[in-house]
Amino acid sequence: MSKQVLMCTPDYFDIEYEINVWMHQDDQPADLTAHQQWQKLHDIYVQQLGWEVKQITPVKGLPDMVFATDCCTIIGDKVLLSYFRYPERQPETEQFAKWFRDNGYTKVKRANNFFEGGGDTLVFGDKIIAGHGFRSTPEAHKELEKYFNHEVISLKIIDPHFYHMDTSLAVLDDETVAYYPGAIDEASRKKLKKAVPRLIEASLDEAKGFGLNVVSDGHNVICSDASESLLGKYRDAGFNVIGTPILEFRKSGGGVKCLTLELDL
Ligand code: ARG
Repeated sequence: MSKQVLMCTPDYFDIEYEINVWMHQDDQPADLTAHQQWQKLHDIYVQQLGWEVKQITPVKGLPDMVFATDCCTIIGDKVLLSYFRYPERQPETEQFAKWFRDNGYTKVKRANNFFEGGGDTLVFGDKIIAGHGFRSTPEAHKELEKYFNHEVISLKIIDPHFYHMDTSLAVLDDETVAYYPGAIDEASRKKLKKAVPRLIEASLDEAKGFGLNVVSDGHNVICSDASESLLGKYRDAGFNVIGTPILEFRKSGGGVKCLTLELDL
């Protein structure tokens, strides 16, 4: 299925502050490698899959703008912009708000509670799987539910390595979700088991390779190639898996999905 996504080049990508356990200012990403990995992902979308990639202009001093998925949750033509937990990221919202305005979106509003868009929300059929605990709040989940009029399956994240829901949980199609159970609490695991017909479990090691941070069109699954065993699980479930090197972005706590805002959900 052809898709349209929004990306932001890593021109100003760096570790300028530390807001998750992966980020260390004395462990900077290599510029060239980051650019090559970003470009390879871009080319998978455009050349291999025939998708359309739109781009937003990167801004100096906003190193995490590269993680475009975090700017909002978007379903159809409705956009709920993020209210970032950390002041360092808050100015990103205005940049993305402008992009949406310039691109003809009219139903755009910012969340009133801390909320980190696609970082913490995954559209699952007519529902939304959403995480809270480190960035987004349960209040934001209520806002989300009201704004989109979709049921929200609200999960509590407990492991700081997986501070955003999309680092430990992947929607592969309308009935399949892959996740690392240790990232969320017991009650959330129960909720998920009830809501999802087909669950694929990943180990801690597999999750740390960022292979749960995926973009999927229901057939093709694009993700980090760091964990061959996890890619094998996706293949066994019937998906066409496209693994790609992306670990330069893990130095900031990000991967394939973080770099990609899907515009056509
Ligand atoms: N350094 C960024 C942060 O901590 C990484 C965001 C990654 N995005 C994601 N969707 N997991 O906010």
